Amino acid sequence: MKKVDWSNLPFGYFKTNYNVRSYWRNGSWGRLEITSSEYINMHIAATCLHYGQQAFEGMKAFRGKDGQIRVFRWEENAKRMRSSARGIMMAEVPDELFLKAITEVVKLNEDHIPPFGTGAALYLRPLLLGTGAEVGVKPADEYMFMVFVGPVGPYFKEGFKPVSIQLVRDFDRAAPQGTGHIKVGGNYAASLQPGVRAKKEGFASVLFLDAKENKYIDEAGPANFFGIKGNTYVTPDSKTILPSITNMSLRVLAKDLGMKVEKRNVPVEELSEFDEVGACGTAAVISPIKEIVDREHKKVYEFCKDGVAGPVSTKLYDKLKAIQEGEEADIHNWNTIIE
Ligand code: PLP
Ligand code: COI
Repeated sequence: MKKVDWSNLPFGYFKTNYNVRSYWRNGSWGRLEITSSEYINMHIAATCLHYGQQAFEGMKAFRGKDGQIRVFRWEENAKRMRSSARGIMMAEVPDELFLKAITEVVKLNEDHIPPFGTGAALYLRPLLLGTGAEVGVKPADEYMFMVFVGPVGPYFKEGFKPVSIQLVRDFDRAAPQGTGHIKVGGNYAASLQPGVRAKKEGFASVLFLDAKENKYIDEAGPANFFGIKGNTYVTPDSKTILPSITNMSLRVLAKDLGMKVEKRNVPVEELSEFDEVGACGTAAVISPIKEIVDREHKKVYEFCKDGVAGPVSTKLYDKLKAIQEGEEADIHNWNTIIE
């Protein structure tokens, strides 16, 4: 393997040694296969290609100072992938297969896990595809589950430095009774136009509003939104956002720090009342937000005026990272050690 500049990795595709795959045929999952191919040979009428029968997950493995490899809350990703599968009528991946796949693929690519202290991690991408051939709109009768991995740096190039976000009103990522709550490719397709435009206009990401009333904050591109108001952690309660495992964990950590936690509708106007705001997710970890620009209403909300992340976001970020990297006791049993 060629030398890697671990501390300056982008968030992107990185070729590794192997990926793992299992096929669902005749009503059951087959044995896990290991391959070094970066390609999938697929039927031209596979439902994932035509009707979006596709779901994925994003999770991370970390190398601790003690040398151990930790995967964060894999059971939650497995559960969410099952919920995605049910949502678009795909075969569900059982916990045992999911765990076997992530364990194998991490071990097979151990040399690609970034060393402790580089700020990088090994990103795991479980993927579930409808591979059976159909031309009518119906669920496939065959599925493929695979996991590939790759070392990544922070999702937003700013890392833990505050970013600018663009609030959009002329695009929705998910319909009110659609698929926003599950991790299916179609939601990301719908986010491409506003996302690319926001980047072109100088923003790290977009902030979507609820698709029904366009009044409440939904989520920040590929990450959930949170705000800090005094001693309270506030995050949107919405049926159209992805239930973020990072957000779920931050709510627990906020409580551990003696904070109040509120999961409720967050009207856009409330932005002016927050002391700190941020985006959170596996890839983004916590990205503090310095500015939210309402594109249509031409309104600007500003935070962290001194250009650095607020004290509460910093505390939460440090705590989450310390648990993930084994620096702090894992009192909630979130880590699984890969041996
Ligand atoms: N929201 C969306 C749309 C996402 O793609 C992600 C990433 O998975 C998140 C939120 C954050 O979720 P998690 O913390 O589980 O990674
Ligand atoms: C993640 O945070 O893991 C994501 O899936 C975000 C994105 C790359 C889609």
